[in-house]
Amino acid sequence: MSDAPATLKFGDKDIGMPVLSGSVGPDVIDIRKLYAQTGAFTYDPGFTSTASCQSAITYIDGEEGILLHRGYPIDQLAEQSSFPEVSYLLLHGELPSKAELDKFTYTISRHTMVHEQLAMFFRGFRRDAHPMAIMCGVVGALSAFYHDSADITDPQQRLIASHRLIAKMPTLAAMAHKYSVGQPFMHPDNRLSYTGNFLRMTFGVPAEPYVVNPIIERAMDRIFILHADHEQNASTSTVRLAGSSGANPFACIAAGIACLWGPAHGGANEAALNMLREIGKPEHIPEYIARAKDKDDPFRLMGFGHRVYKNYDPRAKVMQQTAEEVLRELNISDPVLDTAQELEQIALNDPYFIEKKLYPNVDFYSGVILNAIGFPTEMFTALFALARTVGWVAQWNEMISDPEQKIGRPRQLYTGATQRDYVPVAQR
Ligand code: ACO
Repeated sequence: MSDAPATLKFGDKDIGMPVLSGSVGPDVIDIRKLYAQTGAFTYDPGFTSTASCQSAITYIDGEEGILLHRGYPIDQLAEQSSFPEVSYLLLHGELPSKAELDKFTYTISRHTMVHEQLAMFFRGFRRDAHPMAIMCGVVGALSAFYHDSADITDPQQRLIASHRLIAKMPTLAAMAHKYSVGQPFMHPDNRLSYTGNFLRMTFGVPAEPYVVNPIIERAMDRIFILHADHEQNASTSTVRLAGSSGANPFACIAAGIACLWGPAHGGANEAALNMLREIGKPEHIPEYIARAKDKDDPFRLMGFGHRVYKNYDPRAKVMQQTAEEVLRELNISDPVLDTAQELEQIALNDPYFIEKKLYPNVDFYSGVILNAIGFPTEMFTALFALARTVGWVAQWNEMISDPEQKIGRPRQLYTGATQRDYVPVAQR
């Protein structure tokens, strides 16, 4: 706690409030007693100035464009680590030893299959169902299959639920894809890596052997790392809020998936590629830039801007390099990448975007890579959900084990009718 408490002058009272300091980042004014002391609430729609919890998992400095997981910079993790290792790091707080990593990887591989009855859920969906609609449903349905890990006060049961979620998300995401293209579901092959297994379940068919392309495997693994966690974003806060009532973890993750789907959040990767395709040629860019700047036009440059980053999103830098590498190595020439690069340059030099500190975010280039790998656009957000599951379960575990945790229950500024008497329908 800092020595200098904050003072709020409210009416004729001076209210002293403690100021708490984290290990790095802005101090926070502790307003927990504010209502008791003043009878007033604070008002902060969108939580732009509100820290809703303590967390030791991920740190972002949006002004400097820094993202650290358990202290490690995202670019180092993306370059040198693997998704299972980053998953272990997020869950346990430290990088694993070789033996710990091997054990973790083995444990995850032992949970990759889903109950055969779960496959029947898929048949209830229309063929053209959006994969995120399917993911909301089937991940929520997992809660009905695992009563044995339902005691969330037991850390061991929480860990098993976390392992199950991390392990089954690739299987479910691949099944959502297979269902939409009318191909048989592929069972996991645990000899493959986490990412290789996912690629095989998505693109393999039972009629032929599937050989994992190491370039695609590495790029995909990197995309998973880049999406693994992002502190208290909308979907993570949703998972925490749902979990704060003691709800089943699989149901909480389904809530996170629902939130992630929106175009202002995870759905932006799909929206960004659709936008780049719609722009089509670099010559059309000025028209779209003008629309993005027009107050009367709801159009926004998808994949641009971020609530926290007021600088280049560090994930977008790695994503851009990966997009170039993947396209070069696969010998693909995609005009969408040219449009994206040109659009980025024009926007970054435009006073509107400079003044509002709007930079490309993680979603701007990810669609170009996923498209090159062969994913249909509708799958993009499901891939984000797959990767973010590890962040969600790490944050959920942290919340449940936090002694200061309470059920999440925001207040409101009420602007509706004041008390009035009921009028029977015949008299209205
Ligand atoms: N294109 C054009 N203008 C924009 C954009 C954009 N992409 N993003 C923000 N602005 C403008 C707004 O119009 C607003 O202008 P004003 O101050 O004149 O009213 C100003 O910048 C601030 O925007 P807000 O919406 O208030 O900022 P907020 O922090 O609430 O929103 C958000 C952040 C939702 C990400 C926004 O930048 C956006 O809609 N971007 C496009 C969608 C997107 O890429 N989302 C992915 C985010 S990353 C992720 O979830 C993984």
